[in-house]
Amino acid sequence: NCVLIITIDGPAGAGKSSIAHQVADRLGFDFLDTGAMYRAVTYGALSSDIQMDDADSLSRFAAQIQLRWCDQKILLNGIDVSDKIRTPDVTKAIRFLADIPAVRDQLSQHMRRIADDHDIVTEGRDQGTEVFPNAQCKVFLTATPEERARRRQQQLADAGQTLSVEEILLAQNQRDLEDRMRAVGRLRAASDAVVIQSDGLTPDEVLEKVLATVEVCI
Ligand code: C5P
Repeated sequence: NCVLIITIDGPAGAGKSSIAHQVADRLGFDFLDTGAMYRAVTYGALSSDIQMDDADSLSRFAAQIQLRWCDQKILLNGIDVSDKIRTPDVTKAIRFLADIPAVRDQLSQHMRRIADDHDIVTEGRDQGTEVFPNAQCKVFLTATPEERARRRQQQLADAGQTLSVEEILLAQNQRDLEDRMRAVGRLRAASDAVVIQSDGLTPDEVLEKVLATVEVCI
């Protein structure tokens, strides 16, 4: 198998999506947003009125649905749900699915199938550790909680929503904790990942750092 796999893992708000997307564009690779896959399954479960504390039903649901990642859009049973998955309700409920090993297993297999015949840049929490432990190039992109919350506040402000950094920080700390503590697929840097700390760097500077790292390993 001669496909190239670049993994970019890190906490919420570290800028992974935008960086992974740009790296993929530069290299002519596909870009995979694995958070969107977790979000789509969660959105589907919420829409189907499944009890979020019923792990068996959630696992069965995840095994039945059809997910497709196509032109940077996420399709759930053939319907584009890309815009519907980025709501606070979905974000809050994700852990009920992401904590279940059987659900992670389903989604991980799906991610590996997507990478079967494409060079990809994939971003998430467990790409370099669980899903693609043999990836040629692994980046762990992170920033301090305060820096991530400040950037998020700016993004929201640009979109016309006013939230305080404190409010954002509180929700972000909760999500970081959930992502770091889960039994399977927890957020951590792979031992062979290059850690890039983006505090104080502009988006362009982060991109240059990631590209420089990637160029060495592919
Ligand atoms: O990256 P994004 O914020 O869209 O991810 C949403 C959530 O999906 C994360 O907080 C995490 O709980 C879960 N996730 C995961 N494994 C991944 C990607 C996302 O558990 N590879």
